[in-house]
Amino acid sequence: MSKSRYERPAIVRNAVGLMNKAGRRADLSEREHLDGVPIETLCREFGSPLFVFSERRLRARIREAKEAFARRHPRAQLCWSYKTNYLDAICAIHHSEGSLAEVVSGMEYAKARRMGVPGHRIVFNGPAKSPEELARAVRERAILHADHLEEIYRLERIAEESGERPTVGIRVSVDAGIQPRWDRFGFNLESGQAMQAVRRIVRGGKLQLGGLHSHIGTFVLDPAAYGRAAAAVTAFAAEIERELGVRPTHIDLGGGYASTNTLGSEYHSGALAPPIAEYAEAICSALVAGGNGTTPLAPLLVEIGRSLIDDAGTLLSTVIATKRLGNGKRALVIDAGGNLLFTAWWYRLNVAPAKPVDAFVEETSIFGPLCMNIDCIRESVALPDMRPGERLAISPVGAYTVTQSMQFIQLRPACVLIGEDGVPEVIRRAEVLEDLTGPERVPERLRQPGCAAVASPAAPALGPEADGRLAAASTGPIEAQAAGDASRETGRRRTSDAIPSGRPAGPPPGTASSLPPLSPAVPVPGAWPAAAAPFRPGGLADPHAGRNGTARRE
Ligand SMILES: Cc1ncc(COP(=O)(O)O)c(C=O)c1O
Repeated sequence: MSKSRYERPAIVRNAVGLMNKAGRRADLSEREHLDGVPIETLCREFGSPLFVFSERRLRARIREAKEAFARRHPRAQLCWSYKTNYLDAICAIHHSEGSLAEVVSGMEYAKARRMGVPGHRIVFNGPAKSPEELARAVRERAILHADHLEEIYRLERIAEESGERPTVGIRVSVDAGIQPRWDRFGFNLESGQAMQAVRRIVRGGKLQLGGLHSHIGTFVLDPAAYGRAAAAVTAFAAEIERELGVRPTHIDLGGGYASTNTLGSEYHSGALAPPIAEYAEAICSALVAGGNGTTPLAPLLVEIGRSLIDDAGTLLSTVIATKRLGNGKRALVIDAGGNLLFTAWWYRLNVAPAKPVDAFVEETSIFGPLCMNIDCIRESVALPDMRPGERLAISPVGAYTVTQSMQFIQLRPACVLIGEDGVPEVIRRAEVLEDLTGPERVPERLRQPGCAAVASPAAPALGPEADGRLAAASTGPIEAQAAGDASRETGRRRTSDAIPSGRPAGPPPGTASSLPPLSPAVPVPGAWPAAAAPFRPGGLADPHAGRNGTARRE
C-alpha cells in the first residue's frame, strides 16, 4: 500500500456572499444550460472555448427596442452597428427584423453588401472612408455621414466626376453633459464647425444635405443625456432650415445605449442599465418638444449595438488547471482569455460554473491561456471547487468580443447559434492553422529544408508580383498533409443525440440562408481531463487527488 501524500493546507477566509453596506454581491451563480441545451453537450459537440449566441434572446431584444421607438415615433428605424458583432448569421437576424446596416469602414460596407443589404439600407459612418469607398457608397445610394471636411471635399470631387449630386449628412459632436465629452468625431456644434460644414454642402452646389448624426458616448447610463443630444440636434436642424432653407433628411442618434453588462466599477451586476424604453422616451419627447408642431417629425435613425446583443452571447470555457497563488488565493487557468475577451478590461464579466454551486465557495482569480501576465479575466470571483475539464460560462459577451478577438497565441474558437427551436448550429467554424498562415509567404532564400511555411493551398493569388516558384512550391507533401488534416477536421459531423433534433429541411426564416456551408468545430476529445493528464512535477501533490492519492472525482 502506498503512503499517503502530505498536502499542505491552505487556509482561506470564507468571506463570500456576506452582506456589506451595498448589499450582497449578486455574481454568484451557476449555469448548466443555455436555452435548454446542456453546456457540457455544447462543449463536447463544438469544442471549447466556444462562443454561443441565443437567437431567442437576440430577437427579443431587437423587438423590444423596435417597439420602444415605434410607440413614440412614427418613422423610427433601428440600424444594426456591425462592429459590435458582424458574424453573418447575427447580422442576418438583425436584417430579418428590419434593421438597416450601420458600418464604419469599407470592409464592413462590403460585408453588408455581401449579406444582400442594398446600399440605400446602409448607414456609412467612420472617420477613414477612402475615395474608392466613398465613390461606391455614392453609386449605391448609401446613407453617408461625413466625419470631417476632407470627406466633403472628396465627395465633391466624386460628384464632379460622376455628374451626380450625392446626398451627404454630417456627424455632429454635441455637448450632452457626458464626461469626458466625445469630440474627436464629426463637427463640433457649439464652435460653429457643424454649421460651416452644412453651409459647404448646401452652398457648394455639388452635394445635397442629408441627415444629422450624433453619437454622444459609450455605455451611457443616463437616458436624459440622449434627450439633451436630441434637443441640441433638433435645434440645429431648425437653425439650418432658417438660414439655408433646407431641412436635414433625418436625425440619427447612437450608439452608446448601455447593455446589461457590469462596468468594473459597479458593485451590483448589470443593475444600472436603463431599459431601452427610457432612452426612447428621452429622445422622442425631446424631438417632439423641439419640433414646431406643424412639420412632421424628421425620420429617426437609431444606431444601436451592445444593448441588443451583449446578453445574447456567452463564452464557454474549460478549466485547464487550478493553482494557489503565493498569497494562498485560489486561481484557475482556463482556455479562454484576453485573446477572446477584450471587453474583460472594462467589464466585470459574470463567470458561472456549469455545475451546481454547493455550500462552500471561494474567491478565485481567473487567468486565460496566454503566456502573458496581463491575461486575467477576473481578479476575484466566487466559485466552488473547480477541477480540470469542468466548464465555465462567461457572460455577457455578445458585444465587441468576436469582432475584437485576436489570433494571438491561440486560434479562435467556433461560434454557435442556438436557434429559437433550441437547435445549436455552427455559425463560424473554429480556426485551423491554415487560417493563420494562409496569407503568409516565406521568401525562397529563407526556406529551410522541410519548411512547410510556403504558401497555403487555399491561399489566393498574391497579385501581380506572384511568380511561378510559389505556385510550384505550394504543392509539396506537407501541404497535401495539411489539406488532409483540414478535410478530416471539416469532415466531422454533429452527433445530435443529446441535442434537440427536428429542424425542418432548409433554414428557418430569418437565418443566414446565404451562408456558405460551414465546417464544424475542431473536435475536442470527450474525456478531456483523462486524455491530457495534468502536469505533475515531482514532489507536488495533485490538488485533485484524494487523501489516498486517487482522483476524487473524474
Ligand atoms: C457610429 C457608431 N454607431 C453605433 C455604435 C454602436 O454603439 P453601441 O454598441 O454602444 O450601441 C458605435 C459604436 O461605437 C458607433 O461608433
